Amino acid sequence: MSPQPPAVDILILGTSWTTTFLTPLLRAHNITHATTSTTARPGTLPFHFVPSTPSTDQDDDEVGSQAQYTALPPATLILITFPLTTASHTTQLTRHYTATHPSATPYFVLLGSTRIFTPTPSSPLSYDASSPRAVAEDTLLALYPSRATVLNLAGLYGQSSRHSARDPRSWLSRVAPGKEALGRKGALHLVHGGDVARGVLGGAKEQIWGRRWIVTDLHWYDWWELAFAWGDGRLDHGADAGKDGDGEYREWVMQLMEEHGVRALPRPVEVVGRVLDSRAFWRAVGMVPGRGHVLSVVGGEEDW
Ligand SMILES: NC(=O)c1ccc[n+]([C@@H]2O[C@H](COP(=O)([O-])OP(=O)(O)OC[C@H]3O[C@@H](n4cnc5c(N)ncnc54)[C@H](OP(=O)(O)O)[C@@H]3O)[C@@H](O)[C@H]2O)c1
Repeated sequence: MSPQPPAVDILILGTSWTTTFLTPLLRAHNITHATTSTTARPGTLPFHFVPSTPSTDQDDDEVGSQAQYTALPPATLILITFPLTTASHTTQLTRHYTATHPSATPYFVLLGSTRIFTPTPSSPLSYDASSPRAVAEDTLLALYPSRATVLNLAGLYGQSSRHSARDPRSWLSRVAPGKEALGRKGALHLVHGGDVARGVLGGAKEQIWGRRWIVTDLHWYDWWELAFAWGDGRLDHGADAGKDGDGEYREWVMQLMEEHGVRALPRPVEVVGRVLDSRAFWRAVGMVPGRGHVLSVVGGEEDW
């Protein structure tokens, strides 16, 4: 069995895309940390959470699990960057860790998604509590009411130094391949990877435990407006494309505006549907998002 590594301030389970924004910040603040990967990539500790199921040979599974948990360092805070999707997953992960680290009483930060929030005016409670991720997240909050938090993140975008960019412009042709699909699109919420990293660091300092938080960049975006800004030139111009050379998306947006009586973009909040409120999170961590409106970041004047 490998010896336990030295204690760290933050143990990050999953060297995710988001982590690539966080680790430079941690280094800059002299916060000790360790990261894991399922394939033991260089510089990471091997860790692959494989939940046991009733059909699993429980004894073998327990032994395999204990060894990889024991090889993780004691940590003040554990950031879980991959989805947990049942109550049992949460219980197994946290209990295996605490059982193998009896002297540690870590805080837990679990990254979730804003997808669980229903299309009603947002409040911390208006989420689908029966969705698999919400069940796992609520279990964590119930197990560690004063030492756990869940960050429900909006769509992640940005360009980290080591990973490829997540460019929301490239999502347009997938989510709205035609005018009809674009017509159905309402609001989009985003948050920059760098702001998630700042929020995690701020949250770790500001005691935000015991509840879930919506994390966005404080904007809602109207897909029609984004399509107008980003769609030009993204698709081949067909016979129906704008006569003056504009891309198909601009022509589609114009047609949709006429058909739906929309005089100007963006459409009003009441029309685009779900609008998520992230003010509480940013107040709780004592900061504001570092990136502004996505149109000023992606292809705009702000660094991304
Ligand atoms: N993408 C979005 O727009 C978006 C929006 C809202 C919320 N989120 C959520 O935010 C979180 C972070 O997202 P991300 O895009 O930064 O993550 P990501 O790049 O997809 O990375 C997830 C990490 O988790 C690790 N992992 C996956 N399954 C694992 C398991 N069973 N055991 C141990 N490690 C495991 C992977 O490790 P290996 O690479 O070593 O396999 C990977 O490093 C995720 O929960 C995601 O669902 C994402």
